[in-house]
Amino acid sequence: MSVQKRLLLRWLCLQVIFATVFSKDWEAEVEPKIKGLVSSCVVVPCTFKYPGEQLPDSRIRAIWHTKEKMGDIIYHEDRTKVLDSFKGRTTLLGRLSEQNCTLEIDGVRDHDNGPFCFRAEIPTFNQYSFKESCVTIVPTDVADKPNLDKKGFLEEGVATSFKCSTRHTCPSHPPTITWSYPNSDAIVNNKDIGHGIWEVESLLTFIPEEKDTNTELTCTINFHGGKHSTIQTPLYVKRKENMSHIIIPVAAALGTALLFGVMCFFMSKNYKQQIHELQSGNGIWNQMYRMSQRFRSVD
Ligand SMILES: *[C@@H]1O[C@H](CO)[C@@H](O)[C@H](O)[C@H]1NC(C)=O
Repeated sequence: MSVQKRLLLRWLCLQVIFATVFSKDWEAEVEPKIKGLVSSCVVVPCTFKYPGEQLPDSRIRAIWHTKEKMGDIIYHEDRTKVLDSFKGRTTLLGRLSEQNCTLEIDGVRDHDNGPFCFRAEIPTFNQYSFKESCVTIVPTDVADKPNLDKKGFLEEGVATSFKCSTRHTCPSHPPTITWSYPNSDAIVNNKDIGHGIWEVESLLTFIPEEKDTNTELTCTINFHGGKHSTIQTPLYVKRKENMSHIIIPVAAALGTALLFGVMCFFMSKNYKQQIHELQSGNGIWNQMYRMSQRFRSVD
């Protein structure tokens, strides 16, 4: 290989290395708008990229500030720099070394609208405020009404399931779900449905008893921070029909009818035969009658 070719190859290799290391620009992906239940928490999903090599947590400083004013800081590792109204309410949940800038705002207040923007500072290198991808919080005072299955008649003694669910934006302290059904076991599931929204559901399985009929099944969702929402559905339980209750009388009735039918058939057959015999003159009475007539004629 000529010297020129070798140099060219080396240069190409360097290009590839530089391209992979330095091609990334400052970039952040933040959910633009997210509902937050007042008094509960809201978790804002956020990921970011920065030029240069990957750095450990300690080399990156994370800051969240209002879009309006860079100095209005709502999250900083140095708490003294945080606005009084946000002190103690913001936590960085994401790991910076994993380029995760996810923020939790706890005790959401009516005026926590934002927009809020993430800022990354790499002290020996550079810093950047991602002002083109900020989040607006929409504080809501009332929790969404949960969803609960509606069912028709339940059968006594036959296991049945009800599902109660709701959406929320506080996955770091998910809501808890309770049921009015005594001694009930329920399976709880929390799932991420994207855009910072989570769905929590509880599946209750129980065996209804006759005494449950016309009672209300209540599902209560308790949110972090103290708010709750509830929903009810009436229960109607059908008594278990023991099949012998039906089969025995029906079988008895059918049997009686059949016996009666057979008896009628033979009786009518017998009766018809007797009539026939009487009419044809071969019956015993006819013969006796004829015989008596004969004796009389002999006289
Ligand atoms: C970022 O961190 C949060 C909190 O730990 C986590 O729930 C989320 O899955 C992370 N996002 C990514 C893309 O890894």
